[in-house]
Amino acid sequence: MKYLFGNWKMNMSLAEIKAFTRQSKVKLPSNIYVGVAVPSVYVGACEKLHKNMLLGVQNVSEYQKGAYTGEISANMLRDLDLDFCIVGHSERRGYFNETNTQVSEKIKRLQEYDILPILCVGETLKQYEKQETKQVLSSQLAGNLDNVDKFKQIIIAYEPVWAIGTGKVASEEIVAEICDYIKQEMHKIMGQNYPAIVLYGGSVSPENSLSLAKLPSVDGFLVGGASQNAEKFMSIAKNMIQGGEK
Ligand code: PGA
Repeated sequence: MKYLFGNWKMNMSLAEIKAFTRQSKVKLPSNIYVGVAVPSVYVGACEKLHKNMLLGVQNVSEYQKGAYTGEISANMLRDLDLDFCIVGHSERRGYFNETNTQVSEKIKRLQEYDILPILCVGETLKQYEKQETKQVLSSQLAGNLDNVDKFKQIIIAYEPVWAIGTGKVASEEIVAEICDYIKQEMHKIMGQNYPAIVLYGGSVSPENSLSLAKLPSVDGFLVGGASQNAEKFMSIAKNMIQGGEK
């Protein structure tokens, strides 16, 4: 099974969503899951889009309910019938100072309502240059998966911060090695039989997705910029299918 998720971030307008919905109506084989994480206020506007792909959002509150102005709870996401939610994106960790403990609480809230968490992990450029990637990932995974339900699926997205939105995609060698490493770590934390699903994210495009999709340790992609354009997004999906066939 292959997985392709888009992350629109704080982009798109109602008109652009309509066009995306129209242009993304492509028949895909049943061995690929495709979804988009939309801005929460646009969930209603994505009703038609939800008929042909999974729908999710980009953040959730770590709290159950109550006086938390501006927050959105996992229970609310369940009410809207959402399939998944991104947690721990490097932009949330970086710009909003989200800690490993907060990320882990968010995963627990999502699990309570059976919403699939897509957990983003990745090293900064400085950490990469200091060859600290594996160390950083191990500590993020250990902190983020602390006491979560080990019987529920969590998808991991390996997103090197230096590759996000920069056009600098990580080399195939790095992606293959690190996705494999994350799988080993997942097995250590969640149990040997845990179905470790690992995506790569960071400047994935129609041009580079075919060769990345051929890497055996890569189960799919989390795509930012290119997911805002239905044609590009669907062409990545097609490359994944072709790449998976090897
Ligand atoms: P990008 O973003 O594809 O634009 O690099 C990836 C992400 O932030 O998930």
